[in-house]
Amino acid sequence: MPYLDDVEALRKADRWGMLEAYLRWPDALLSGARRAEELEIPGEVRMRGGSIRYGQPSSVVIVGMGGSAAGGDLLVDLTWDRMPVPILVWRDYHLPAFVGPDTLVVAVSYSGNTEETLVAFSEALARRSMVVAITSGGVLGQLCRKLKLPLVEVPGGLKPRMALPYLFAPLPILMEEFGLVRGLREQVQAAAALMEQMATGLAPEVPVEQNQAKKLALDLLGSVPVVYGHGFLRSVARRLKSQFNENSKVPSFFNQLPAMNHDEILGWEGEEEYTRRFSALFLRDPGEGPALRERVRITKALLADKVAKIVELWAMGVSRLERMFSILYVGELASLYLAFARGVDPYSMRSIDAVKRELAELGLAEEARARAERLFPS
Ligand code: PA5
Repeated sequence: MPYLDDVEALRKADRWGMLEAYLRWPDALLSGARRAEELEIPGEVRMRGGSIRYGQPSSVVIVGMGGSAAGGDLLVDLTWDRMPVPILVWRDYHLPAFVGPDTLVVAVSYSGNTEETLVAFSEALARRSMVVAITSGGVLGQLCRKLKLPLVEVPGGLKPRMALPYLFAPLPILMEEFGLVRGLREQVQAAAALMEQMATGLAPEVPVEQNQAKKLALDLLGSVPVVYGHGFLRSVARRLKSQFNENSKVPSFFNQLPAMNHDEILGWEGEEEYTRRFSALFLRDPGEGPALRERVRITKALLADKVAKIVELWAMGVSRLERMFSILYVGELASLYLAFARGVDPYSMRSIDAVKRELAELGLAEEARARAERLFPS
């Protein structure tokens, strides 16, 4: 019996119940959406030295790092051809110059304590941007409560990457609430329903033969996965790369087509001694146009003798979000199965914690908190 079919061993290895948490994603997605539906966007929030006025945004910036930024990428891919204003996912301390009072800035931090996000959040306040936060608490939660800023609170006690549905689902709802894009709620519901159907087939009890996630994990085992997405699957490729890093503890990279046909493809001409260490995972959509279909075919042919393995994941479902989540869900669970197949702990995050701990000594999060507190109305 392959290790991944030994349910008892899997459950033992999964000390923190990550498999169960991921299998509950359909509910988490609906819950995240509900939390945003319940949010009341104020007309104005008073602060020392000038108010924030909530209205029609002329741009949207989603601020966050790592697992908390991933939902922003998904939102961009979900809405790029319908969003009437520029939208950007920002993973850094300082905000771009265009961010001002007409910008909707959504600060996403699962812990609420990430220094880059707190610095950017304090800058958004100073510029009187329309700030909304999504967090389980931390400093971000406290500041929002004190300043009476709109806050979507999500359940705590998870690792940020496990909380993606909670962190993502409020975003489409906010886009609707701010009058930017319609018809997204329905897609969130459809994606949750599709994941619900898929969950049974991806569970640990389902053997490798019938379990797409276990199969993918075994396909990628022993290689460095390079994930290729196109169109609205770009964000999915990026997220899966992160999950292979964070859960499976393997190096992993992503890129998009057609862009990789113009540079990265030459890298695969290198010595097989190197290229054979990688596998290529292509994310596919049945609705991809003829140009992309051809590009994938040609690219696969060029890579065929160079990489350890070529694997494809095909999207299912009708709406765009269903298609995105249908691939995402298989890949997310595959990243857990890959961790178990490798004998590593998907829950641990030693290196991320080490960097955060050392950086904390610079006191940037504290400075950002103090800057925000100076804006408290007297
Ligand atoms: O997945 C993770 O744990 C990380 O990528 C975190 O999301 C990242 O470090 C930011 O932390 P937070 O999500 O708490 O803001």
